[in-house]
Amino acid sequence: MIGPEERAAILEVLEGPILVHGPRAVKFEADFAAYTGAPHAVSVSSCTAGMHLVWFTLGLGPGDEVIVPAQTHTATAHAVELTGAKPVFVDAEASTGNIDLAALEAAITPRTRAIAVVHFLGLPVDVRRVVEVARKHKLFVLEDCALSIGAKLDDVHTGLIGDCGVFSFYPVKHMTTAEGGMVITRDGDLAARLKLRKAFGVDRTHGERKIPGTYDVVALGFNYRMSELHCALGIEQVKKLPSFIDQRERNYRVLSTRVRSIEGVTQLDSTAGRFLSSYYCLSVILDDRLAGRRAEIVARINAEGVGTSVYYPQPVPRMTYYRNKYGWKDGSFPNAARISDCSIALSVGPHLNEDDMNYTADVLQRVLEEFVG
Ligand SMILES: Cc1ncc(COP(=O)(O)O)c(C=O)c1O
Repeated sequence: MIGPEERAAILEVLEGPILVHGPRAVKFEADFAAYTGAPHAVSVSSCTAGMHLVWFTLGLGPGDEVIVPAQTHTATAHAVELTGAKPVFVDAEASTGNIDLAALEAAITPRTRAIAVVHFLGLPVDVRRVVEVARKHKLFVLEDCALSIGAKLDDVHTGLIGDCGVFSFYPVKHMTTAEGGMVITRDGDLAARLKLRKAFGVDRTHGERKIPGTYDVVALGFNYRMSELHCALGIEQVKKLPSFIDQRERNYRVLSTRVRSIEGVTQLDSTAGRFLSSYYCLSVILDDRLAGRRAEIVARINAEGVGTSVYYPQPVPRMTYYRNKYGWKDGSFPNAARISDCSIALSVGPHLNEDDMNYTADVLQRVLEEFVG
């Protein structure tokens, strides 16, 4: 969904003198803050970088634990693991794929420092309940919002009920900057600490240096900045977000209604009451008769021109790196495993329309009928 506006914006950067540290990064942060209603927004080179930056800035390290959903992208766990702290995995709720809030509290130990939640496929976690638990135990709450741009809880954008929210602008997300991310927070002090550490811990930005080349380093930090090229893309994409998300919602509604009458699959809950989804995709769960035949079913669907994906291919603790490090017991995270092993994700992206959704549903129905027999 890259249009002439994005192309022109990129060329404008290339024709000018500033590739990094320029006005576009400032504007992109301001525009994203305005879109989400966030008091503070800090651009970063990816969602993974943003999450790592947050944990690093909080000083997490060996001996610390962070609660992490078992059903998520590996980035959520890696960001913790990279600091030397331990991700403690918690299973998903069967009906939404979001972290199981009852199991979450039971996983807290004296070593727990923080909780990470993921708004799975864009449906908000009830972060208010997470924050209640966190406050009792003095824990920090990070919302991994990689799939939840546009998703709201009681009219508050995801990322603003916990202590911070971290977004991804990777190409398959709701908007893209090719690579990129954003941390939003209500906490100005946290935002300032993140800004310092995302750029080497240097105490002055280029604009603030009265004599070029003079600065001091006051903290350990990374280079997790976005370039002006990436931010130029972001500025144009943010403008299009409302129409992108409207189209996703329309597509989701058509497909969801059709899927309800298709035999052999169920779907995860989408918008429920106060929770407004960002409609990342529609994931169908194959029933027990079909679950073992997912690869064949996917191949047949793809052969009819309908693209599919899986969110996510394995519960993170079952991935080789984590299994080798922390062990894995079959049956440990049954809901996360069922979603990984038995689901097929169908696109509702804004490049598609209602006719495409009906075609997707027709193909799904036809293929499943062949397998149900
Ligand atoms: C839930 C979740 N968190 C984090 C990420 C990582 O985002 P990024 O590629 O911007 O680092 C993804 C990835 O795509 C994701 O799905």
